[in-house]
Amino acid sequence: MPKITVLPHADLCPDGAVIDDAESGKSLCETLLEHDIEIEHACEMSCACTTCHCVVRQGFDSLNESDELEEDMLDKAWGLEPNSRLSCQAVIGDDDLVIEIPRYTINHAREQH
Ligand code: FES
Repeated sequence: MPKITVLPHADLCPDGAVIDDAESGKSLCETLLEHDIEIEHACEMSCACTTCHCVVRQGFDSLNESDELEEDMLDKAWGLEPNSRLSCQAVIGDDDLVIEIPRYTINHAREQH
């Protein structure tokens, strides 16, 4: 079972978290939610909002490939990086992952600017 290390996020998991019983074949977003990391998922995981954006610091290549729709949506995400994924579209493979949940989502960004 792959292990997922979640780097600290001020609101969602201030001390970071380790999920050591993640299931291959499941989406990253679902897995985080099941482990009480309440990542935003405003479109209910239908690849239409980008609020579930995360950056994969380790293990990026073990995930499924992103499709065109995800890439298009990602372009709108706050804090986009080369290893960004929409966690609702990223399917866990066999390798351990280290992920970072960006500080803001487009929802926050809108509220604050
Ligand atoms: S939950 Fe909306 S794109 Fe992932």
